[in-house]
Amino acid sequence: MQNRTYKAESEKDEILDATSDEFLKGLERADSDLPFPVETVSVTEECRLVIQTDPRSAGADRFRLVQMRLRHLQASKKLRNLLITSPTPGDGKSTVAINLATALAEKGKRAVLLLEADVYRPSLLKKLGLSPWAGLTECLDNKSDPMLAIRRVDPMGFYILPGGTPTPGGNFLQSTLTPQFFEGLATTFKWILVDSPPTTPMAEILALKVLTDATLLVARAGETPREGIESAIQTLGRDHIIGIVLNGMEGLEKVYSKYYGYVQPNDGSKGTRFNGK
Ligand SMILES: Nc1ncnc2c1ncn2[C@@H]1O[C@H](COP(=O)(O)OP(=O)(O)OP(=O)(O)O)[C@@H](O)[C@H]1O
Ligand SMILES: [Mg+2]
Repeated sequence: MQNRTYKAESEKDEILDATSDEFLKGLERADSDLPFPVETVSVTEECRLVIQTDPRSAGADRFRLVQMRLRHLQASKKLRNLLITSPTPGDGKSTVAINLATALAEKGKRAVLLLEADVYRPSLLKKLGLSPWAGLTECLDNKSDPMLAIRRVDPMGFYILPGGTPTPGGNFLQSTLTPQFFEGLATTFKWILVDSPPTTPMAEILALKVLTDATLLVARAGETPREGIESAIQTLGRDHIIGIVLNGMEGLEKVYSKYYGYVQPNDGSKGTRFNGK
């Protein structure tokens, strides 16, 4: 095995030079201690990371519910690589993927990789306020080890392999992403969440389907057309879809406010009831 060298770019990060032996020793440590460079995110409202910024909200509760269900499913069937897609652009795939990665990782308790397979319109690093680095596109172009492009994202504790710089021209993922690529990642990660393009055009998504164990379909409440959802189900096949996440549903907070009553904001201010009183 070739020597691996991990270099953190941020001045704050410790620079790690690791031989393969040290790397393997690192992998034997707890999941929370995988030897990847660390990026620290300043979590703002723009990240839409409700699970982190608003853990008592209805949205956060629903993400915890989804992660619990996924973990139960993983215990009973092969489920590691999860395709996250939706019928149309902007339905909230990446937002759902970031929140779910955070919920599953539980601050580093589980090794969760967020893999950005939407290489034509990468958005994850921007959402997280992180400066870009070479990602999936560069790894596949240069046939380099994808492990070298992975970083840990704190304080959430998941790992990320970003899409990299978009390459002009089609057939990119279709011809280059292989089962071996995923098998390599599976030796290190318990979950691989694949943030993907929409289901139309179909070629990319069908290529990703065969490389993943199941699909989580995202739809935007009040916006994604019903026909779009039906056609996405047809494209992916019912057997591959383990659930549909309805993103942006209004009205849930009222129900939750009855339970939690008083909502403590994270800005240190006094807090308000959901009914505004
Ligand atoms: N529940 C929500 N309420 C309000 N805005 C949201 C919600 N979910 C996502 N958004 C916003 O909608 C936009 C699209 O979301 P996101 O990038 O997650 O969608 P996407 O499906 O990944 O898009 P693309 O198809 O371009 O990859 C973003 O600006 C995001 O902040
Ligand atoms: Mg996206």
